[in-house]
Amino acid sequence: MELPEELPQLYKRHIFACHTQRPPQHPRGSCGAAGAGPLWERLGKRIEALDLTGEVGFTASGCLGFCSAGPLIVIYPEGVWYKPQSEADIDLIVEHHLQQDRLVEDLVVVLSR
Ligand code: FES
Repeated sequence: MELPEELPQLYKRHIFACHTQRPPQHPRGSCGAAGAGPLWERLGKRIEALDLTGEVGFTASGCLGFCSAGPLIVIYPEGVWYKPQSEADIDLIVEHHLQQDRLVEDLVVVLSR
């Protein structure tokens, strides 16, 4: 069976946020050790406060595979990876990407294998 060209979508956007926490000395590093917890908490609160929960899915994920680049989120359907460093960065992503459909270029991380 072939994939359909388009399926009905539950959300306009879906954010996956890495919640993996490894010890600080771990050679791979982790988003948790890089300070992800308070950032994702802020992101969840902003999504709720702005009543975006009906159109924005927000899911805690495990390791996304690029640990040293973290803390990382990826937003679909665009497939944009962001590396926020502060609550102000989170607010920018919410305001620009989620509310205004604009890329926050300074926070985009381009990953390569
Ligand atoms: S720990 Fe977050 S990408 Fe691996």
